[in-house]
Amino acid sequence: MFKTHTCGELRIRDIDKTVTLAGWVHRRRDHGGVTFIDLRDRFGIVQVVANPEINPNAHQAMEAVRMEWVIQVEGIVRKRPAGSENPNIATGDIEVEVQKLNILNPAKTPPFIISKDEEADENTRLKYRYLDLRREHMRRNLELRHKVVKFIRDYLDERGFLEIETPILFKTTPEGARDYLVPSRVHPGEFYALPQSPQQLKQLLMVAGVERYFQIARCFRDEDQRGDRQPEFTQLDLEMSFVQREDVMNLIEDMFTKMVAKVTPHKKLFASPFPRLKYQDAMDRFGKDNPDLRFGLELKNITDLAGKSGFKIFEDIVAKGGHVRGINVIGCGEYTRKQIDELTDYAKQFGAKGLAYLAISAQGDHRSTFAKNTTPEVLQEIIDRMEGKPGDLLLFIADKPAIVYETLGRMRVLLGERLGLIDKNILAFCWIIDFPYVVWNEEEKRWDPSHHLFTSPMREDIPLLDSDPGKARGQQYDLVLNNYEVGGGSIRIHERQLQEKVFKLIGLDPEIARQRFGHMLEAFEYGTPPHGGIAPGIDRICMILADEPNIREVIAFPKNQSARDVMGDAPSPVDEEQLKELHIKLDLPPEPDNANKSVM
Ligand code: AMO
Repeated sequence: MFKTHTCGELRIRDIDKTVTLAGWVHRRRDHGGVTFIDLRDRFGIVQVVANPEINPNAHQAMEAVRMEWVIQVEGIVRKRPAGSENPNIATGDIEVEVQKLNILNPAKTPPFIISKDEEADENTRLKYRYLDLRREHMRRNLELRHKVVKFIRDYLDERGFLEIETPILFKTTPEGARDYLVPSRVHPGEFYALPQSPQQLKQLLMVAGVERYFQIARCFRDEDQRGDRQPEFTQLDLEMSFVQREDVMNLIEDMFTKMVAKVTPHKKLFASPFPRLKYQDAMDRFGKDNPDLRFGLELKNITDLAGKSGFKIFEDIVAKGGHVRGINVIGCGEYTRKQIDELTDYAKQFGAKGLAYLAISAQGDHRSTFAKNTTPEVLQEIIDRMEGKPGDLLLFIADKPAIVYETLGRMRVLLGERLGLIDKNILAFCWIIDFPYVVWNEEEKRWDPSHHLFTSPMREDIPLLDSDPGKARGQQYDLVLNNYEVGGGSIRIHERQLQEKVFKLIGLDPEIARQRFGHMLEAFEYGTPPHGGIAPGIDRICMILADEPNIREVIAFPKNQSARDVMGDAPSPVDEEQLKELHIKLDLPPEPDNANKSVM
């Protein structure tokens, strides 16, 4: 070993010991002729010091080194002189008096300063990710992620789960995104699809009698990038046999409760047991099915009152089946015209045509887009429904239900953040249940599964699949944490007949269904146990536990926002020989950018 101790472990108890340390030069400074280096390794930082009067050779060597050089020092642990202790680091009571210094490797000046968390441009951070990961907060994120995954493994192992790997080269496992395809050299013209999740394979493991399976599974989805999405990401994929919805939910709830206590004890759960909200209630109260429960500003429905308000815009929309819903932004009744205009512009991003408002001053006077057209009685009913008080600002969206929900749902979060109503140390887990089983796809004039193809409808709602599919509920559950969906799961279909019925309902051609999912249908005929499972997203959970704004911060080597690995430069063109072997000819769009892309 190059070291006897790590840079994080020396304390008062080690005084007078001779130690050897190795690591990176974090900072170097000179003070009255004495040279100090903060030496860093993964485990911490320790101050090493060279005094030219005590050891001139070591001092000379110390003067030569620069930031991020890799060095080894041998020296004696000393108590720091009184008044020069550093309470911000664990080794802050001691320092190491250098006797000998070896340069193990010099370094170029890094493109950003490792010791300062100042923001470098993200693409530079990603291009030099190996340097970015040296930074304190990234190291902490890697450690947190390790602890989360280790906790999961131990917890599930203690409860009889088997961790089983499933193939990455498989066939399409649809979860609503495009597949990443891998061409086969030995089967010209044929492709593997990278799994969007191990969904089919975990169900087949239930047919195989595994009963309790989990995997820290990599999933691949070609979809639009967002802060909480990556083309490849990691799920805790889990499946159990002979269970009902409650069993899976209780297990996951217990696991996360204990995980938070162990891994992030400074965070507090919002509520335990986790609240359970029906999908429709979540939409009505929060405008979204991944609601943030940490603050109020809940939506209120005034459609019935708006329909008789005398305000033509409201009445017309209600007559056409639209909704009018609002939020009471408590204490913001003095918002200026400009502030309200800004919120109106924000609303328009989500398709709303405008934002109606009623601002109540502290004295009780009204400013409003609609009050002058409305009878005092109806106006009072609206204010009462909204629980409006002097000093409040009531905001309303009138539109198609989907636009009303989305706009107010987003505006609620924006205002919650802006008004400082969100405590980041609270973890508000909740379950969303009773989703509609299928949703109508207006463009393609067919029903789409609201979760995935293998989710079971509620047993009592099966007859509705024939008579009124839109009313059937699915046996699915989403786990929501703060403002994010962090997991989704369901009780599955385990009978061939029902699975075929669902394929038919969603308009899947029987021949295509056989080609894609024939193996599932066949397996269901060999004694398939009732089963269900879930897949919490590890990246999203770590992001929230680490207080990070996006999942790239908790992934060692993520893709950037245009799905590119800027460090390795992937994707990248391949040479013509490789394409030939794969029997692939490129047919690129005629963009100037693509002129040189066919071959390396
Ligand atoms: P679902 O598609 O809901 O369910 O995904 C489960 C969880 O995976 C995470 N997730 C993602 N994380 C980062 N980047 C992405 N692109 C991404 N897509 C999804 C989310 C999400 O809640 N097979 C089912 C699970 C089951 O039924 O058991 C599935 O994959 O946290």
